[in-house]
Amino acid sequence: MLAIKDVHSRYDTAAILRGVDLVVNAGEVVGLLGRNGMGKTTLVRTIAGLSPPALARGDITFLDESIAGLPSYEIGKRGIGLVPQGRHIFGSLSVEENLTVAARAAANGDTGWTLERVYDFFPRLAERINSRGKNLSGGEQQMLAIGRALMTNPKLLLMDEPSEGLAPILLRVIREQLEMLKGADLSIFLVEQNLGLALQLCDRISILGETGTIVWQGTPSDLDADDAVKRVHLGV
Ligand SMILES: Nc1ncnc2c1ncn2[C@@H]1O[C@H](COP(=O)(O)OP(=O)(O)O)[C@@H](O)[C@H]1O
Ligand SMILES: [Mg+2]
Repeated sequence: MLAIKDVHSRYDTAAILRGVDLVVNAGEVVGLLGRNGMGKTTLVRTIAGLSPPALARGDITFLDESIAGLPSYEIGKRGIGLVPQGRHIFGSLSVEENLTVAARAAANGDTGWTLERVYDFFPRLAERINSRGKNLSGGEQQMLAIGRALMTNPKLLLMDEPSEGLAPILLRVIREQLEMLKGADLSIFLVEQNLGLALQLCDRISILGETGTIVWQGTPSDLDADDAVKRVHLGV
C-alpha cells in the first residue's frame, strides 16, 4: 500500500532522514519508534507532503503510484489521512464543525465515515458536539483529531504520537479505539513514544535511529524480547 524507498528529507539547516526504507501493506498496523528528535515527525510530514521538510532524494509510492513531490491536498485526496502530532484541531470551531470541514468522500466515492459513524465510534464526541475545540480535554482533542482524519475516508492513517500527554485512563480508551480501527479496513502507520501501546497494537515495528535510517525492524514480540535494542535505540 505504502512504500518508502531510500527517502532523504531535510530542513534548511540539517539533513534528517538519510535513506529510509519502509513498507505498509494493506490492512497492517506498522509502528515507527525511535527516540526524540530522530526524525519520526519529519518522516510523517514527508509522506503527507507537508513542507518543511523537503524530500531531497528517494521515492514514496501509495497504491502503486508515486506521491513524492505532490501537494498535501492531493496526497490526502488519494487516501492518506493525517493525525498530526499535537492534534492541531480548530480551537474556535465546535466539535461538529471540526468534523464537517474535513469531510470528504474517498477517491472511489466511498463515504463510509459519516458524522454519525464517527459519533458512534467516539460517543464522547457526540456528548460534546457543540463544545469548541479549545475547551476539550486532551483526550477529547485526540479523539477529534482522529475523527477528523476518518471523515476524509482514508485508506491509510498516519498517526503521530496519539498517546502523547494522555492520562493513563484516556490512554486505555484511545488504545481500545485504535484496536477497533484495526478491524475497519484501514492501514495504519503509527508513530509512538509509548512502547507498550506500540507492542499491543502493531503487526510490525520499525525503529528510526540517529543515522536517519531504519536501524531495526521486526515483530512486537521480537522487540519486546530484545533488551539491547530497546536500551540502545529507545532508551528504555
Ligand atoms: N522546522 C524545522 N526546522 C529545522 N529543524 C527541524 C524542524 N523540525 C524539526 N527539526 C529537527 O529535525 C530533527 C527531527 O525532528 P522530528 O522529526 O520532530 O523528530 P521526532 O518526531 O522523532 O521527535 C530534530 O533535530 C529537530 O530539531
Ligand atoms: Mg515527533
